Amino acid sequence: LARGVAAPDLAGRHVVVSAGGTREPLDPVRYLGNRSSGKQGYALARTAAARGARVTLIEANTGLPDPAGVDVVHVGTAVQLREAVLKAAAEADAVVMAAAVADFRPAAYATGKIKKKDGQEPAPVELVRNPDILAEISTGRARPAQVVVGFAAETDDVLANGREKLRRKGCDLLVVNEVGERKTFGSEENEAVVLAADGGETPVPYGPKESLADTVWDLVVPRLG
Ligand code: CTP
Ligand code: CA
Repeated sequence: LARGVAAPDLAGRHVVVSAGGTREPLDPVRYLGNRSSGKQGYALARTAAARGARVTLIEANTGLPDPAGVDVVHVGTAVQLREAVLKAAAEADAVVMAAAVADFRPAAYATGKIKKKDGQEPAPVELVRNPDILAEISTGRARPAQVVVGFAAETDDVLANGREKLRRKGCDLLVVNEVGERKTFGSEENEAVVLAADGGETPVPYGPKESLADTVWDLVVPRLG
């Protein structure tokens, strides 16, 4: 662990972490997906367990082995992720949405493989919106003192976009990553700024995803009821 022997400051707490990226099926062999590796969510789950929490990890398409001492729920799509997160959040002290949730899913699922036809252009793929899980959890807190954390990967006006997103989602903390080379996707390391609804701004220098995870828990702990 990045910080050696962890303080058991999450003992007696139940935390829910989502990790990975949802896949939205088009037909039995194809899906719309994203590049989330799940490593940041897994680091959050491991560090929370090391700090004494009971951890429910809701995992989408990471292929990573289940961390020891953590309850893992495997899901595929955004709709399945929503079901699993809402269920686990009902008795959680904190919910951290590290998963990359597809904003859209195909409007229709083809039960047979979509085939190309000679001389024909492909039909456009119609998409519909997925539910916004973070906004739903934030506005309908299962417990008054529940702490809700979101993640955002941004490319331009990173902090301004982050502030606006924090407000729009209604969460307590938002971890904002600047997407760029060697950062975020698939990497072992990360750099971020954690924005708080009370105006706080905590920069986290480039380093292991475990360090960012510990900083998130450091900010969650004093906000727990
Ligand atoms: N999120 C969610 N449900 C969705 C989309 C996103 O719960 N349908 C969560 C993510 O897990 C993340 C946070 O919301 O914690 C921010 O995701 P992001 O994609 O940055 O936010 P969006 O509102 O989808 O904004 P954008 O249009 O920039 O993608
Ligand atoms: Ca999005």
